[in-house]
Amino acid sequence: MSAHATAAAAPAPSPHTAETGRAAALATGLAARLRWPAPALLGWLAAWLLTLVLRLAGASPWLALGTGLVACTALALAWPGLSTWRRMILGGGFPLAMLGSGLAQGVPAWAWLLPLGLLLVAYPLRAWRDAPLFPTPPRALQGLARQVPLPAGARVLDAGCGLGQGLEALHTEYPQARLQGTEWSWPLALAARWRCRFAQVRRGDLWAEDWSGLDLVYLFQRPESMARAWDKACAEMAPGRWLVSLDFAVPGVPPARVLRRPGAQPVWVYRIENKPYRGASSGSIRTPGRR
Ligand SMILES: C[S@@+](CC[C@H](N)C(=O)[O-])C[C@H]1O[C@@H](n2cnc3c(N)ncnc32)[C@H](O)[C@@H]1O
Repeated sequence: MSAHATAAAAPAPSPHTAETGRAAALATGLAARLRWPAPALLGWLAAWLLTLVLRLAGASPWLALGTGLVACTALALAWPGLSTWRRMILGGGFPLAMLGSGLAQGVPAWAWLLPLGLLLVAYPLRAWRDAPLFPTPPRALQGLARQVPLPAGARVLDAGCGLGQGLEALHTEYPQARLQGTEWSWPLALAARWRCRFAQVRRGDLWAEDWSGLDLVYLFQRPESMARAWDKACAEMAPGRWLVSLDFAVPGVPPARVLRRPGAQPVWVYRIENKPYRGASSGSIRTPGRR
């Protein structure tokens, strides 16, 4: 059942979009391969250099430090494959170091809480447990509809839809599908709703949502989430439906297809089967979902 497929050539994307997609995929691949603590050291160094350069250029401590904090926080959120603790170390190490250095002079103590407050509003802690915001690159799902054809009106969910880039990629592949997105962060869900008028986006917990009735669930989460996602898909989705994951495979479960393009993250495609299988997370025997 492990038929490996390679995505075929694209229907002429713009050169700029193609370049951006390639660069994003390359950066993701490289970043994911770096061993801890290299991500933290690189993140702190980048934020520190940015702050220093801005200070030397005459920027106010507020502007320099704020820019460094935003850069470091963004890196902590976006770095692929890090655990929550490592993200917190990456994101928190820079402000702590600045507190002890002269670069933070002139910034009142309470101001240090601002980025944390903003971060928590945009990014409630629950969303960290599964995956921080890291968007699907523009052409990441290219060729999926050829490998997994769906009828018009099929129901497709991006579970944890972030700002909506995954929904856009799904819309390109399945322009006639009924697309849904679920996102835990309020601001991200609002932004995705605004960006993706073609989809129904709701704020909610992807694990609490009922997946029965869906034809395809797409995820771009974390390696650690995949076993749980597979268990949920098998328990709730009907046989013959699909679970699709960007970059991260379900451990111990043979994919029905894998889409691979040079320099891009693999797309793992799983078909829900109507037979008992050994659950990847718990080791328990489960029966795939029936409607
Ligand atoms: C790696 S991003 C992927 C975003 C989008 N699917 C895409 O591919 O462009 C993961 C997203 O899942 C969201 N998320 C994490 N845990 C969640 C949960 N339990 N329920 C809903 N969304 C969640 C995060 O807030 C984040 O926006």
